[in-house]
Amino acid sequence: MIMLNFNPEVDQGKLAEILASIRGDAMGGWVDLPKNILIDEILSIKEAAKKITEEAEYLVCIGIGGSYLGHRAIIEALSPKSDVKIVYAGNSLSQRELNRVLTEVGDADFSVLVISKSGTTLEPKVAFEAFKKKLVEKYGEQASSRIYATTDAHKGELHDEAVQNGYTRFIVPDNVGGRYSVLSAVGLLPLAVAGVDIDKLLEGATEMYGDAGIQAAAKYAWLRWMLFERNYDTEVFASFEPSTAYFNEWLKQLFGESEGKGKKGIFPASLIYSTDLHSMGQFMQDGRRNLWETIIDYPTDELNRKVVKAVRAAHSQGGIPVLNIGVPSYDEKGFGELIYFFEMACAISAKLQGVNPFDQPGVEAYKKLLKDGQNGKATL
Ligand code: PA5
Repeated sequence: MIMLNFNPEVDQGKLAEILASIRGDAMGGWVDLPKNILIDEILSIKEAAKKITEEAEYLVCIGIGGSYLGHRAIIEALSPKSDVKIVYAGNSLSQRELNRVLTEVGDADFSVLVISKSGTTLEPKVAFEAFKKKLVEKYGEQASSRIYATTDAHKGELHDEAVQNGYTRFIVPDNVGGRYSVLSAVGLLPLAVAGVDIDKLLEGATEMYGDAGIQAAAKYAWLRWMLFERNYDTEVFASFEPSTAYFNEWLKQLFGESEGKGKKGIFPASLIYSTDLHSMGQFMQDGRRNLWETIIDYPTDELNRKVVKAVRAAHSQGGIPVLNIGVPSYDEKGFGELIYFFEMACAISAKLQGVNPFDQPGVEAYKKLLKDGQNGKATL
């Protein structure tokens, strides 16, 4: 299980209140996902993954934010073996990037997985249109059989289109928001196609679901809160494994979107060592002391371990609080533990700050302005 180098006192009465309010929240469904995901759903996911593996050389995963960061993070970190290459689209509005992916897929056999809870987000919509066109050009009437859609169970443009055209459908549960959805079909289908052992991932998450896991998450949340109260307003997630850069991106989304509201929040940043010791290392050692460092301490080789120890000592001497989160294994189980640990810690942290961990009014504001075609004005 995840090991921590800190042990703040947690107010158990307050924790019980917070947990009850998380569990009772209309968007609190992620709490029980590792336990409650149905065997039938896992079987359908595995069946679809098998079909995709048989029919395609490429799976184009279309989605943005919570609809892609979690599964991409695990795939990049574990580089699992699969006959299908996963490529990503619809996570920006760059035509250049979209063309690059279209060109990469080229004439190869491919299938498309489009993931969008709302079914209306512009970035995935644009990419989906482009890949649908390519599917129809290549497969004609058979195109729909190569489209997999993960979206709301009952409503939304993507839901309606999927029902009308007979795409294979998977559900984002009503009570699970995008950034808490990686352990649902949102993450599990692409992970299964990529060759990740999803049973082990869920096993890891389930390990953190019990009281010991919750207490560990609460300790981390409490310490973050104590640091925030002492005017530390920036958290730097640091890892010594370059392949976990996307896991850092997932963390930034999880914490940034959950806490940054009502003019509150801890700013999440991330670094990869030792690479960034030769750039941002200067700031970490000697710059403004408004930040702390949370090291995600993956099992690593001997030389890298020496760097971990040296960095912990140097940055502590430089006056930075250094939190260490020890990951038991660099595999599906280890990442399952990490995902659940951080989701729970993030929800508790947001509650301690008095903000709603499960909404994203700022993101919705951008989406609306983009739809309305309005431009922001810079103000000083
Ligand atoms: O966490 C969130 O809610 C967001 O990051 C969404 O996942 C993101 O905006 C994409 O939304 P949708 O899945 O509705 O396309």
